[in-house]
Order: sequence, then C-alpha cells, then structure tokens
Amino acid sequence: MKRYKRSFASDNNSIVHPKIMEALNNVNNSHVLSYGDDPYTESARKRFKEVFGQGCEVYFVFNGTGANVTGLAAMARPHQAVICTENAHINVDECGAVERFAGCRLWPLPSKDGKLKPEQIQPVLNVLGNQHHSQPGVVSVSQCTELGTVYSIEELKNLAAYAHSNNLLVHVDGARIANAAAFLGVSLKGVTADTGIDVLSFGGTKNGLMFGEAVVFFNRQLAENYKYIRKQGTQLASKMRYIAVQFDALLSDELWLNNAKKANAMAALLAGEAEKIPGLKITQPVQSNGVFVSMPRAAAERLQQQYFFYPWNEEKGEYRWMTSFDTEEQDVMEFTAAIKAAMHGQH
Ligand SMILES: Cc1ncc(COP(=O)(O)O)c(C=O)c1O
Repeated sequence: MKRYKRSFASDNNSIVHPKIMEALNNVNNSHVLSYGDDPYTESARKRFKEVFGQGCEVYFVFNGTGANVTGLAAMARPHQAVICTENAHINVDECGAVERFAGCRLWPLPSKDGKLKPEQIQPVLNVLGNQHHSQPGVVSVSQCTELGTVYSIEELKNLAAYAHSNNLLVHVDGARIANAAAFLGVSLKGVTADTGIDVLSFGGTKNGLMFGEAVVFFNRQLAENYKYIRKQGTQLASKMRYIAVQFDALLSDELWLNNAKKANAMAALLAGEAEKIPGLKITQPVQSNGVFVSMPRAAAERLQQQYFFYPWNEEKGEYRWMTSFDTEEQDVMEFTAAIKAAMHGQH
C-alpha cells in the first residue's frame, strides 16, 4: 500500500498510535453491555479520577465539536452568552453548532495571541441585568489556544477566579490540553482542576486516538443532566468500550505525555529551522505543536503543491504548520528543505 508523506497540515492527519490500536484489539473479543455499562468504561472512568482528581465526572463523546457543544449546553441557558476569543474553534470552526444546539449566543472578543484576558471581559459585564442583551454566563478558552500559545497556570487561575467572582462559569476547550501540560511541565490535574475551571473538553484524537473525546466536569453540579444532553446531542456511543479503552491506554504509562512532548519537540525543531530561512517569519511564540509563519504567497503556493497545509490569514500571508506525535526529525528536515526550495522559486 502506498505510504504518503507525513503532513504538516493538521495533527488530525496523523496515524492512530500503535498502543491505542492494541487496546482496541484487546477488547475486540467478546460481548459486553453497551452505552457505557461495561467494565472497560468503568475502568476508564476510574483512570480519569486517578489522573484528574476523585471529584471529577467524565463522559465520553465522539468528537471535539460534540464535547464543546454538549459541555457548553450543560453550562449555559439559551438567554446566556459564552464569551470566547474571535479565533476560538467554537466561534469559527463549528458551523454555529453551539448557537444551534445550546441555543445561546457566542460573544467573541479580539485576541492577537489567542488568549482571553480578564480586562477584556469586564466591559461585557455591563449588560448584566439588561433584558435586551444576552447575559454573559460562561467564559470559554482554548488551551492550547488556536494560535499554538499556552496560558500559564497563573493566567488560567486568574481568569477562573475573575470569572467566578462575576458569577461566570469556565469552560476549557482542551483539544490540545496534553500539549499545554507538556509545555508547562505540569500534570493534567495541575493544568485543569487545580486552576479552578468548571468543565473541560479533553482531547484524544489529536494525541493518538482513532476517535474520541471526553467531557470532564470538575463542577459536578453541572453534570446533573449531562447524560440527557449527550444523548440528545447524538454523542452517546452504543459501543462505548471502543472509546473508553483508548482513553484508558492514553492515560496509562504517560502515553499522553510522551505523545504531546514529541509533537511539541518537532514543532520546536521546525520553528528553529524555519527561523533561519531568509524571508520567512515566525508570527507566534512556538509553545506547543503549531508553528505560525508568514511567507510570500507565491512561495507558499509552490510548497503547497508538495505539502498541503492551511492558510491561517490569507491577507497577511500567514500559514499554519502542525506537528504530531508521529512526526519524525527526518520529516521536519525534508519539509525544511522543501520550504527553502519554495522560497528560492523552485519546486
Ligand atoms: C481547538 C479545537 N477544538 C476542538 C477541535 C475538535 O474538533 P472536531 O469536532 O473536528 O473533533 C479542534 C479540531 O480541530 C480544535 O482545533
């Protein structure tokens, strides 16, 4: 079978980690109860409590949009608003799913580095109590951000404390939370529960799973009706074990951490090499597995003929390159050589 080049377009382009495949195979031999009433799902739930703290509640879903949308539906009423950045995945890449399913408004705020700051939220709160305006109810941030930057623990703690002191709940889109923990050198609990956040969409797919994400409630009251919301939201898997065992494997033997560290290291290597190329500029601090660059459009188009990748901001000539746990040094070097050639007007 033809093997395609490793891509720098998205961490979703990667393979399934062999240990995850093995975990799937290991449970593919008998009948167990469906919809999560099986011993494998029970074991994965226990694993989450060990990793994120005994106080959390976890629910498995199919994908990241589903985790965000159903999680937020458990947090916000239709007359409320979810404050996020203008580049948040929920704002630009989910086809209005939050607005449609949770029924509430998104309230996007500008952000140059992908982060939301308490002082930006303050003016929005002026509408509280005014019946003509959606009422701010939730702050949703992405960790890592869509621009590959990472909130420090202090930044997250301050944001959560500010939100709570203003009766707002805090949701984290953690599609790449493992990369953030790896960058910060803290545990998954340290970057989530310990910062005071209420609900986390915990990513699996970008870090080695075939598919599957988890909604983790640190504020357990919010989980009260979640099982109904998940079902209505079409995110209840009948063969739940096949999501659960993947997470059990991911959270065992620090597979989540090793995968994230590898992806981050490959992005750092790529950024280091790219930086040396005249005419190319790194536009965001490289803190996770994303490298944002600006380069002449013609060079980008030449490069895209060999390696597909997405423009981030067409007007500014800004592009996004992503690495994965299965990106190898040699892939980075080959890609770097292709970038150099494209910058010199060659294919
Ligand atoms: C920040 C962020 N959140 C969530 C998702 C999950 O999306 P999906 O519904 O494609 O799994 C992604 C995937 O690209 C993402 O980048």
